[in-house]
Amino acid sequence: MEITLRVWRQPGPDAPGDFETYRAAGISEDMSFLEMLDVVNEQLIAENREPIAFDHDCREGICGSCGFMIDGQAHGPQRGTATCQLHMRQYTDGAEITIEPFRANGFPIVKDLAVNRKAFDRIVESGGYISVATGSAPDANLIPVPKATADRAMDAAACIGCGACVAACPNGAGQLFTAAKLAHLNLLPQGKPERYTRAEAMVDTMEHYFGSCTNMGECSVACPAEISLDFIALLNGEYAKAKLRSRRA
Ligand code: FES
Repeated sequence: MEITLRVWRQPGPDAPGDFETYRAAGISEDMSFLEMLDVVNEQLIAENREPIAFDHDCREGICGSCGFMIDGQAHGPQRGTATCQLHMRQYTDGAEITIEPFRANGFPIVKDLAVNRKAFDRIVESGGYISVATGSAPDANLIPVPKATADRAMDAAACIGCGACVAACPNGAGQLFTAAKLAHLNLLPQGKPERYTRAEAMVDTMEHYFGSCTNMGECSVACPAEISLDFIALLNGEYAKAKLRSRRA
């Protein structure tokens, strides 16, 4: 296959950026999207030109490192798929593809397609933990967890923290990510001691970096882990209860 790529190139956070066009020849339909970019980068390096900067790590849809806008869609056209899981068989020979970084105030551009997602780290840092007593590990079945609760918590824990939800949202809101990170802890007995402080801290930190949710639903559609919008309802409920408790106190 031969592909024409329009790629956003930006040398640094404060430097102006623009699209550059590259032709990628000899692309196999079995290559992943990132492998196709590797081919383009090898070509650029061979020509003594700066390779395209993009984040990646596991290349298995697990770590959440990869992600950019492909033809205006976060992670591209295939639902429930991270950029690293997208394959070139999705495209036809001669296709023209435009790629650019996630666009959101909370994700400043570092270089080319790489953005700084430290805002997510700050949200997790503020409440994405549980307190555990020191000593030997407790018996695995010491705290019974109903299966339905465990399943729901696992659904929330599937969030890989890639940022596609923020990039897809017209408001640049971080609710889906925050909801997933809160829910998998608040639903389980082990997360109950910090339930309300967690809700307040994570939402307050989120609001510092991101816009407000107006239930557009784009986040859930773009999410490679298909995190449900229901978790945003859960987040709002937990936050309201936490605020009421603080007011009473
Ligand atoms: S590189 Fe890890 S999720 Fe894509």
